Amino acid sequence: MTIKRIVFTGGTGKAGRHVVPHLVAKGYSVLNVDLKPLDLPGVNTLIADVTDSGQVFNALTTHFGFDGFNDGKPAGAPDAVVHFAAIPRVLIEPDNKTFDLNVISTYNVIEAAMKLGVRKVIIASSETTYGVCFAEGEKDFHSFPLEEDYDVDPMDSYGLSKVVNEKTARAFAMRFAADIYALRIGNVIEPHEYDRFPAFIADPPSRKRNAWSYIDARDLGEIVHLCLQKDGLGFQVFNAVNDTITANLPTREFLTRYCPGVPVTRPLGEFEAPLSNRKARETLGFKEAHNWRQYVPAK
Ligand SMILES: NC(=O)c1ccc[n+]([C@@H]2O[C@H](COP(=O)([O-])OP(=O)(O)OC[C@H]3O[C@@H](n4cnc5c(N)ncnc54)[C@H](O)[C@@H]3O)[C@@H](O)[C@H]2O)c1
Repeated sequence: MTIKRIVFTGGTGKAGRHVVPHLVAKGYSVLNVDLKPLDLPGVNTLIADVTDSGQVFNALTTHFGFDGFNDGKPAGAPDAVVHFAAIPRVLIEPDNKTFDLNVISTYNVIEAAMKLGVRKVIIASSETTYGVCFAEGEKDFHSFPLEEDYDVDPMDSYGLSKVVNEKTARAFAMRFAADIYALRIGNVIEPHEYDRFPAFIADPPSRKRNAWSYIDARDLGEIVHLCLQKDGLGFQVFNAVNDTITANLPTREFLTRYCPGVPVTRPLGEFEAPLSNRKARETLGFKEAHNWRQYVPAK
């Protein structure tokens, strides 16, 4: 199916403000749905609260801009919905609000999209589903690499909300025979944030909670684009991360040193990120454009 019109929730946020321009550059027409406006020419923001189902149904059946009035009929549903709006971690809002907002908003967005006949929805899940990011104390991963069939087991309200959202996506994809892809997004790095990497490299334990992995915000835009292009997969989970480990040692040697005792279940690429994007590369054809080594001086 040719996808042209996209409703994007949360486009004003850290990830969205890079993903939305990437999608516009690929030729999609985008309506941003957020509580705050996005300053991007050609993209209107509808100020709407995605925890309110009525507002979500409205947002999915509205003109993207004044041009829409030239069509001579009210707007129909978009071709696809990308849902990024959320409380993006713990310790911003109380735990119950984080869980409540993330779970209800995702239910509302997917339900409205499905009932309006949208056949493609992409939702933002998270690396935190792998259970270590916001764990109390020292918790080990079960095994490496972290891939999409892992038994996810977060103990925090944010990670749990994302696990529930994946189940919501799976239920609706089954019921409506639609494509709903959940992206387990790694730590989002904006272009100006590569100056943080020397500290990451110097202190390996500091990045265990992110599994020594990251996603460049622009490469995340490319993964969303590829998901919009790839039809017919039903419910899917994709790790959305860049290719390589945020360390200078080869991955196998690094994990032996810093995670002794954690099983490694398959041969790893020399510098493969422990949170692996193999599925996105092989299924979607993802090729990263922004490897951290391009931006961080070698020591
Ligand atoms: N930033 C990361 O490292 C990271 C990592 C993994 C997953 N994620 C996920 O990616 C998505 C985007 O994250 P981000 O870092 O850009 O977060 P962000 O907080 O910067 O952006 C989220 C946007 O959602 C909007 N929003 C919040 N509540 C809303 C509501 N009720 N109605 C409408 N809009 C609402 C906010 O105004 C904001 O613009 C989130 O789903 C987050 O959980 C982020």
